[in-house]
Amino acid sequence: MDLQSLKAQIDNSPAFVLNIDLLQKNLAQLQTLRQQSGCKVLYSVKALPFSAVLKIANPWVDGFAVSSLFEAQLANEFLINDGSLHLTTPGLSPDEWSDLSPLLSHISFNSLTQYQRFLTLGINSTSIGLRINPKLSFLNDNRFDPCRPHSKLGVDIDVLTQANRLQEIKGFHIHSTFSATDFTPLTKTVEKLRNSLGNRLAQLDWLNLGGGYLFNYVNDHQPLINLISGLKEDYKLDVFIEPGKAIVDNTGYLFSTVLDIFMSDGKTIAILDTSVNHHPEVFEYQRRLDLHEHQPNAKHHVILAGSSCLAGDIFGEYQFSEPLKVGDKFVFKNVGAYSLIKANRFNGYNLPTIYSYQNQQLHKEKQYHFSDYRQQWTTN
Ligand SMILES: Cc1ncc(COP(=O)(O)O)c(C=O)c1O
Repeated sequence: MDLQSLKAQIDNSPAFVLNIDLLQKNLAQLQTLRQQSGCKVLYSVKALPFSAVLKIANPWVDGFAVSSLFEAQLANEFLINDGSLHLTTPGLSPDEWSDLSPLLSHISFNSLTQYQRFLTLGINSTSIGLRINPKLSFLNDNRFDPCRPHSKLGVDIDVLTQANRLQEIKGFHIHSTFSATDFTPLTKTVEKLRNSLGNRLAQLDWLNLGGGYLFNYVNDHQPLINLISGLKEDYKLDVFIEPGKAIVDNTGYLFSTVLDIFMSDGKTIAILDTSVNHHPEVFEYQRRLDLHEHQPNAKHHVILAGSSCLAGDIFGEYQFSEPLKVGDKFVFKNVGAYSLIKANRFNGYNLPTIYSYQNQQLHKEKQYHFSDYRQQWTTN
């Protein structure tokens, strides 16, 4: 994908471009893993629920993983060939149950209390599971560690070893990492699961190993293939994985334009027509985005800042070989996951126009207007 020529072709700024060629490449890689290990692959819709992604992913995956009624309803519109729809969430509401439960092929209750409460509301053909908290932390930031102390995510594995009357449970779900690039966390977690709950695993129909792995950045998939084949062989169950970021992150690009340049306390500030509105994780987790034009040893240091009123709406300091000018265009790469889905219109700034790119063709998929903003904030 020639980003330089795309800058000239894109007629709206800011813009989000979805690279469909890359999306298909990621899906093909998972297809190979699926064939080699015998696992089933679900796309975790929360990363980017855009219809083009759901449509293209559908034939390559065994279904979708969702967190809510709206995600389930949207995913269901795109599900073909008896694909599975798996849900796990701490936020299940009884008000939604009658709409939600007929859509789900699998559910992993987040707690024993949630399991007991929803069982009494009636479950038709959905296969019932439990999300397990394996109590093994691999992340040094509590904000995204599902195994942090006093975690709200999943049934404590040690509590589960003591629990009885779980005969309806047909599956377990685990998810405890974030952007991992080797399979050590999963190997250790499955080892703990086997040691603590081996007898129960033998009575299950399925085990969902969650997401959290960047498969396209892991060179050697053999440890995962061995782990999944071993589980299938020893316990005769279906093994699912539900990646989100691995499928969409490197397929997304955020194009933006410089609106203003000035000095502040001796540093050059460039204001962009995008902001942390369009990628809130830049602010939430102090993520530094990969900027196409950044040259690590170049002499012009510039702080790229967003256009909102928030003082901390800053992408960070980047380096360039030439001084920047108003009207220059920049591209942030690897922003397909957890960016657009979290994007907002704070300060009244529009959402990026969405384009897709495939076989060297650019196609405008969606453009937002004042009417969308108005519709959200007015009552008539
Ligand atoms: C339960 C569950 N499954 C799957 C995912 C997808 O993870 P990732 O996008 O890191 O692959 C998440 C992400 O938060 C999750 O919470």
